[in-house]
Amino acid sequence: MTKKAVDTIDTDKYPHVNKGLDGIVAFSSSKSAIDGDKGELIYAGYNIDTLAENSTFEEVAFLLWFDRLPTRKELDELNDQLVAERHLPDTVVNYLKNTSKDAEPMSVLRTATSMLGDFDEEAEINEPEANFRKSIRMTAKMPAIIAGFQRARDGKEVLAPLKEGSTAYDFLYMLNGERPGEKAEKVMDICLIIHAEHGMNASTFVSRAVCSTQSDIYSAITGAIGSLKGPLHGGANAAVMNMLLQLDDDADVEAYIKEQLAERKKIMGFGHRVYRTIDPRAKHLQKMAKELAEETDMMTLYNWSEQIQSVMKNEKGIDPNVDFFSATVYYSMGIKTDLFTCIFAMSRVTGWTAHFLEQAGNNRLIRPRQLYTGKKNLPWVPIEERS
Ligand code: ACO
Repeated sequence: MTKKAVDTIDTDKYPHVNKGLDGIVAFSSSKSAIDGDKGELIYAGYNIDTLAENSTFEEVAFLLWFDRLPTRKELDELNDQLVAERHLPDTVVNYLKNTSKDAEPMSVLRTATSMLGDFDEEAEINEPEANFRKSIRMTAKMPAIIAGFQRARDGKEVLAPLKEGSTAYDFLYMLNGERPGEKAEKVMDICLIIHAEHGMNASTFVSRAVCSTQSDIYSAITGAIGSLKGPLHGGANAAVMNMLLQLDDDADVEAYIKEQLAERKKIMGFGHRVYRTIDPRAKHLQKMAKELAEETDMMTLYNWSEQIQSVMKNEKGIDPNVDFFSATVYYSMGIKTDLFTCIFAMSRVTGWTAHFLEQAGNNRLIRPRQLYTGKKNLPWVPIEERS
C-alpha cells in the first residue's frame, strides 16, 4: 500500500511548534546524561567530576567512542594513533599561512577541517572502522590548525606538531613555541575533558543530522563547527571575555549588569536550556580561574566575574554555564580571546564524532515537520502587473 502524500501538516497530530525544539527528545544515546536540576553531567556512565579529577582527555575520547574506559594497552595505542595523525597536509598549512589574518578563527577552523577531507583517502568510505579512523584524525589535527593559524596571523613560524606528549601539551607547544609546564598542561587537559560532550546541544544535533543523510563525517564536523561558533552556543566564551575587557578599572560591575538586564540584554556565559542550577563544568572552571588569576595577577577580572555571578543570581536566579569561567581561564593562560571557541571545538570533536558513529550505527533520516503559516492558492499575477 502506498502512503498518501501530504502537503500540509496534520494539526491534530502535530498541533504546535516547540520553539527551539525545547523538551523534544530527538535521539537515544549512551554518550552523556544531564540532570539539569541536580547540576550533574555524566559521560557514558562516569560523572564529569570523577573524570576531571582522574582522567585525561585522550581517555575521555576513548570513553565517548567506545562507551567504556580503555585498558592501559588500549590507551597507549590510542595515544600513538593520535600522535601519528597530528601532522597537517601541506595545502592546509599553506591555507593557514595565506588566508586573511583578519579571518575569524572558528571560520578558519571550519574551512581547514573541511579541507582535511580532500586529503583523506577514506573521506567517502562510510564504514564504522573508517569513520572511527577519521574521528581520530580530526581530533589529532584540529589543535595544529588552531595553533597554526594563530602563529601565521602573528607572523610567526607555523610549528610542526610534536611526536610525543598529550593533546594539551602539544597544543600549548604549537601555540606558544615553547613546551608548557605541568600546571598549564593539566589546566588545558581538564578544559578539554569538560568540554568534550554535552547531550543534544545544537552542534551535536547538527553532526547527527548530517550523518543521518549518509553524508560523510568531515561534512558533519564542518557543520558542527559552524553551529558551535554562534554566541548562543560555544561562541559565548569569547563574548564573555569581550564583556569583561570593555569594563573600566573602576567599573561599577553591579550597576553595569543591572543596566544590561534593564535593557533586556543577555549576559553571556549565563543561562542554559537544561540546567536549573550551576553547570557542573563551571564549578571546575571557576576553581581554575581563581587559581590562575591569583598566579597571574589578574584578580580584578576574577573578582568582576564573581560580582557578575552574584548579581545574576540575585536579579535573575540564573547561574553561570561552561562559557563564563572558561573565558578567564584561557585569558589568564595568555590565549587570544577569539581562539576560545576553537579550543571548545578541539575538545567537542570527540563528542560530535562519537554521536556520528552512534547515529550511523542506528540511522534514520532526520526529517522533522514544519507548521505552514503562509497563504495558499494565490492567483498567478504576471510580472508586469505586480506592484
Ligand atoms: N542573561 C539574561 N537573561 C537570560 C539569560 C542571560 N544569559 N539567559 C536566559 N535569560 C532569561 C531570558 O531573557 C528569558 O527571560 P524571560 O522569560 O523574562 O524572557 C529566560 O531567561 C529564558 O531564556 P531563553 O533565552 O528563552 O532560554 P533558552 O533556553 O532559549 O536559551 C541560552 C538558553 C541560549 C543558553 C540563554 O540562556 C542565553 O542566551 N545565554 C547567553 C549565551 C550563552 O551563554 N550561551 C552559552 C550556552 S552553553 C553552551 O552552549 C556551550
